Amino acid sequence: MPIRKLPPLVVNQIAAGEVIERPASVVKELVENSLDAGATRVEVQLEEGGCQLIRVSDDGRGIPAQELTLAVAPHATSKLSSAEELSAVATLGFRGEALASIASVSRLRLTSRAVVEGRIAEAAALLEASGEEVSPATPAATAPGTVVEVRDLFFNTPARRKFLRTGPTEFSYVADTLNRIALVHPQVAFTLIHNGRKNLDLPGPQAPGERCLEIIGRDLREGLLEFELVDDHPPGLPGSAAGNQGGLLPEDEREVPALPEKPVRIWGLAGQPSLARSSAKYQYVYVNGRPIRDRNLAHAVKEAYRGLTPPDRQPVVILMIDMDPHQVDVNVHPTKAEVRFREPSRMHGLVLTAIRRKLLASDLTPTAAVFGGGATGAFGGTGGLPTSGAAGGSADLGFERAPAPEPVAPQMNHFVEYFRRMDPIQRGLTFDQLRQEVGVAAGTQTPGPALPAKEAGAETAQGLAAEGAAHSTLRDAVWHPGQTMYPPAEPGAEAAGAIPGGAILQVHDSYLVTQDEQGIVIIDQHALHERVMFEELMHRVLGRNLESQRLLVPEVLPAAPRDLAALEEFKVLLTRVGIEAEPIGPRQIAIHAFPTFLFDRKVAPAEFLRDLLDKADDGQISLAGPQAEESALHQVLDMMACKAAVKAGDHLSNQELAALLQRRGEIERASNCPHGRPTTIRLTLRDLEKHFKRT
Ligand SMILES: Nc1ncnc2c1ncn2[C@@H]1O[C@H](COP(=O)(O)OP(=O)(O)OP(=O)(O)O)[C@@H](O)[C@H]1O
Ligand SMILES: [Mg+2]
Repeated sequence: MPIRKLPPLVVNQIAAGEVIERPASVVKELVENSLDAGATRVEVQLEEGGCQLIRVSDDGRGIPAQELTLAVAPHATSKLSSAEELSAVATLGFRGEALASIASVSRLRLTSRAVVEGRIAEAAALLEASGEEVSPATPAATAPGTVVEVRDLFFNTPARRKFLRTGPTEFSYVADTLNRIALVHPQVAFTLIHNGRKNLDLPGPQAPGERCLEIIGRDLREGLLEFELVDDHPPGLPGSAAGNQGGLLPEDEREVPALPEKPVRIWGLAGQPSLARSSAKYQYVYVNGRPIRDRNLAHAVKEAYRGLTPPDRQPVVILMIDMDPHQVDVNVHPTKAEVRFREPSRMHGLVLTAIRRKLLASDLTPTAAVFGGGATGAFGGTGGLPTSGAAGGSADLGFERAPAPEPVAPQMNHFVEYFRRMDPIQRGLTFDQLRQEVGVAAGTQTPGPALPAKEAGAETAQGLAAEGAAHSTLRDAVWHPGQTMYPPAEPGAEAAGAIPGGAILQVHDSYLVTQDEQGIVIIDQHALHERVMFEELMHRVLGRNLESQRLLVPEVLPAAPRDLAALEEFKVLLTRVGIEAEPIGPRQIAIHAFPTFLFDRKVAPAEFLRDLLDKADDGQISLAGPQAEESALHQVLDMMACKAAVKAGDHLSNQELAALLQRRGEIERASNCPHGRPTTIRLTLRDLEKHFKRT
């Protein structure tokens, strides 16, 4: 085929493919336009998650009738007039592409009544655009401001339409997008209505701290620490002594303007480590009021929490960066979701320092009222963001104005609890410290009989199997009364795989060491127990639903719209694994029943469901794709097994040790945990002989 120029419609549709991915992208663009127009009230209405209809109305400046046609034309904007301005963008939009892109893949109707220099235009005007067709603007009636209606998204691009998910799922993306924008614009009131039902109603103006809590959940209030760091160090010039000395990442090479730079201000809220989630969805990052994703900054956040959260947990963080717009390029991503910093390593360092410093200076033990018992002073700051919003964001959250909190006795020491359960190696404890800890843990956790044989350092498998522990950790894993997960080992039974008379040693309450015919076997107790539990659960769930227990009082957890969508999507699966939960209102989920064995293993229902929904949200558990049901079931059972399994640092009684080893011999795939990590390492006699130079 000869080379030829593509027709404008195809060009626009290709461009739209990058800008408009799903209804949430449309909402993002339209709401950003409303904010750029100085709106104080933005209402978003959707039908079928936005697949059928998206209507965004605002009370902003509006568009003069004679400019309406230009508004939907490609590369037409009122926000930028020269290439220089592109290096210091102060609005959310700047390309003049959004409305044109939306119009090329939907049926768009734009109605606006402009306010020019304080004067409201006499009449509103209306225009329709779809594909290549744009109707002439005609007079209409509406209040000052703009209404944009987008119907039948992707009606003319079936390939794109096929990728749309269900209405509730698309709605959950929209809600998340709107929440992220609304969080940083507390001066604006936002409403979100889906299929005629109001889902979000944020009054405006609100104190910034109040707005944050409305969006991330009031239950987090006590665990949030406010941080701030202002750096007026002038950014390094390329090649100068100050420039990127020792920086790990390559810096952008462009010229630096000679003008003095605005200081960089890093501020926001850092959740206590105990609030960390299994998904990074609870991290909100903004640069000059623009929500962004940035791997470099996400890494800085992770580093700030190093050693305070387990590697697979993601802290809750709201991170705001205010900086000179010359120092950041916003024109690098089709949906404007990413930016490029002139000095990424400096930004990394500042974010790391700001958060780390706050964490280290704080008592990280959650208390009942970190901010002082809900006094109205807390979060009461009214320092709002500048109404233009986009370039602003330099607001005081109002947290520090809270009266000094009374020290409150911790109700539950999550942090210490977490540390206790963490892998001792990760904790970097010395052996003596470990022994001391074990002494405490053994007293509180495993009130079994004293273990005289353990003191000698090793026991025989026979001796262990014969010993009984009344309330041992593993035997707590009861399915229902009278039926234990592990049949008690017969007196005199050998642990399978161990040879008669073989010793079992629990090392640092984390590893089991024993022998088999081939040599020495070292077992990761958590990994093996996780595999054992997983196999048992799999076996049971193939026959019927897992046994569950009804909660006398339902446990309630706060939920975002995406959680409600996931709950609906996973309903059948949840029933299979013994979880009964349903939405109560638009923002909460009540758990009515929970698997008995998880109860017995002291797994908290709300925490478990929270993790599960986070994983669903992250796509780690999904019902899309081939064999999705089976793989989702695996994932959920794996989560259950992991949560219920003994942890590194848990002291095991003699009987538990023996029972665990016995099950190792009975189950399939005992060599790896469900995540694929090995449960066992073997050192063969041949290896030993080689190492000791006996051959
Ligand atoms: N809600 C609104 N209120 C007032 N003016 C608007 C509104 N929406 C769009 N406009 C006008 O229409 C123009 C085109 O909007 P569009 O979103 O396509 O481009 P943009 O916002 O300039 O840049 P970008 O493509 O980066 O979003 C804007 O520059 C603005 O002048
Ligand atoms: Mg725009």
